[in-house]
Amino acid sequence: MKLKIAVLPGDGVGGEVTAQAVRVLETIAKLENHEFEFVEMPVGGVAIKAKNSPLPDETLETCLASDAVLLGAVGSPEYDHFKGEMRCEAGLLKLRSRLGAFANLRPSACYESLADCSPLKREIVAGADILIVRELLGGLYFGEPRAIEAFGESREAYNTMRYTTAEVERVARVAFEAAKTRGGKVTSVDKANVLEASQLWRETVIEVSRDYPEVRLEHLYVDACAMALVTNPKRFDVILTENLFGDILSDEAAVLTGSLGMLASASIGGRVGLYEPVHGSAPDIAGKNIANPIGAISSAAMLLRYSANLEQAARSIEEAIVSVLSQGYRTKDLGASEKSIGTSEMGDLIVENLMETREVNYSYFAV
Ligand code: NAD
Ligand code: IPM
Ligand code: MN
Repeated sequence: MKLKIAVLPGDGVGGEVTAQAVRVLETIAKLENHEFEFVEMPVGGVAIKAKNSPLPDETLETCLASDAVLLGAVGSPEYDHFKGEMRCEAGLLKLRSRLGAFANLRPSACYESLADCSPLKREIVAGADILIVRELLGGLYFGEPRAIEAFGESREAYNTMRYTTAEVERVARVAFEAAKTRGGKVTSVDKANVLEASQLWRETVIEVSRDYPEVRLEHLYVDACAMALVTNPKRFDVILTENLFGDILSDEAAVLTGSLGMLASASIGGRVGLYEPVHGSAPDIAGKNIANPIGAISSAAMLLRYSANLEQAARSIEEAIVSVLSQGYRTKDLGASEKSIGTSEMGDLIVENLMETREVNYSYFAV
């Protein structure tokens, strides 16, 4: 298989974790005789510095001409005072929008070996396995009108939470399809007791659910969902929600896994998928080789699953991660450990594990 992958490391720890994800993809290519071409391009603060834009035209064009995009993170304290389209984050939002990536899949599962790494009790998190399907191109992030306006001495700012039925329907279908292959349950999260945008959301989700009689649908208000995520996460299978609620709930759901550094994501819906860890540029730990690269590496596995249909390869990466973690190796964010290792060492171990497992498989088939 031939794949052209645009690699956008971005800011802060983005470069450190993306480098490990690329190594893992190179290992898969070597083991399975694929041809993966990686084209590295700037995004975020590094792109502002080099090209005076958080998403230069050449970066966008390269992404649109690729099979998939692997992104690290954007955001830099140096450029935090920038406004509007010059913000690092605006570059990422434009990229998502131009790729047509309306559905953002954010899996959050508690690995058995990490059940004691969460600040929540083992009996609460062990066995939790949630897929958040976050709407990515609507709601407050993109709704018009939006502005900051001056009225004499005073100023006023507003954003608009806006959804069309078509926007809700297409992301709802992604959630119901995913539920069919998992636990068969969708929890649609909204604020329909207050917001019209949520009332339309709920009505539309109910309409879509008629096409999926095998999937159980429930509704939960976002405030109640925030509590249930940390008190009874095992009640969830697929969570379907709008853009801002999904942003907030996914960082919260990371607590089940032990660290935000564990969470991966796939943004799909357009021709080219976008794969990025859920965490940001983590300026507080950047440049120290201590960031957890597993979110980025798992995002690379999702890339193989959704943009290349290489399900077996995706699984082998996920199994390598589980295997290394069950041997006790931890990056610092997962807590103190006798086998505390850095970003690149975690990458080394996952790559080694992939190669060893393949050797075992080959010798098994040879017998
Ligand atoms: P953050 O996700 O960067 O960091 C939150 C906390 O989690 C920090 O304590 C950080 O050290 C820790 N953390 C994050 N990733 C980690 C990893 N891989 N390993 C270990 N620890 C990790 O969120 P923030 O500090 O609120 O934001 C920093 C910048 O990142 C901002 O500019 C923000 O806009 C941006 N951001 C970008 C993305 C993205 O590119 N997708 C996502 C979130 C935030
Ligand atoms: C995320 C991030 C982004 C978002 C920011 C950086 C624009 O927080 O991917 O979760 O809000 O979607
Ligand atoms: Mn976020």
